[in-house]
Amino acid sequence: MIEKLEKDSVVGADSAADAGLRFDGVVFRYPDADPASPPTLARVDLHIRPGESMALVGATGSGKTTLTALVPRLHEVTSGRITLDGEDVTAMSRSALRAKVAVAFEEPTLFSASVGENVLMGTDAEGAGRAELERALAVAQADFVHALPQGADTQVGEQGLSLSGGQRQRLALARAVVGRPRFLVLDDPLSALDVHTEAAVEAALRRVLADTTALIVAHRPSTVLLADRVALLSGGRITAVGTHQELLRGNPEYAHLMSGTGRQEDDR
Ligand SMILES: Nc1ncnc2c1ncn2[C@@H]1O[C@H](COP(=O)(O)OP(=O)(O)O)[C@@H](O)[C@H]1O
Ligand SMILES: [Mg+2]
Repeated sequence: MIEKLEKDSVVGADSAADAGLRFDGVVFRYPDADPASPPTLARVDLHIRPGESMALVGATGSGKTTLTALVPRLHEVTSGRITLDGEDVTAMSRSALRAKVAVAFEEPTLFSASVGENVLMGTDAEGAGRAELERALAVAQADFVHALPQGADTQVGEQGLSLSGGQRQRLALARAVVGRPRFLVLDDPLSALDVHTEAAVEAALRRVLADTTALIVAHRPSTVLLADRVALLSGGRITAVGTHQELLRGNPEYAHLMSGTGRQEDDR
């Protein structure tokens, strides 16, 4: 970690304070929202240091998905800024942004293409081919692919074979890790997995996270524990940042969310 910080801090003129993923005074309101209602994100300040993994925890509807979607610019911030190693995401081209940050969302879409194309899509790894594909599938515990009629060449999406939610999540995760991105943003990527698969993905993901700067929306303590620190999103702001243990002891809202009593949807 220390070695990594030193290496990052000599890149360009960026100070250590700029390195990593930063949210500075980020305000976001959905364009179609009632102007009288408070914005979804009232003011988010958060710094994920280079090489660090940060879990993002918050009640349903607190804006976790919205916050993660702002990084790859699926929505544009209303005000404030998001920077990757000091560079404002709005100043980056789509392709530069995509090369730097990989995302996996809770409800991923698959394109009408083969499994392999779906995983390699949009990355420089397309040239890297089979070996990278196999590594990504292994990380995502997506070995079910090998049992499909044509393996990784099986067509999926609207025209092809339909996959379960858990299978789609694992392919989305494989897609996110295949290009070995510098930044990784995962919106609850393990929510549709059974506990055994989840544990296996977590073990593999732990190794991936060691080499990236990551923001991971998490519901379960086991996922939170993959991260170095946790941020609590509440009322449109980050109201606490610390280790899982620190927040469990010091923050009643966090303790409540982690106890599971605050959530029904985890019982799927
Ligand atoms: N496309 C949208 N348009 C308008 N409001 C939205 C949209 N997506 C989400 N919201 C609202 O934004 C708030 C935060 O949602 P979301 O980011 O999905 O929360 P979380 O992921 O923490 O459950 C919710 O009140 C939700 O209804
Ligand atoms: Mg969400």
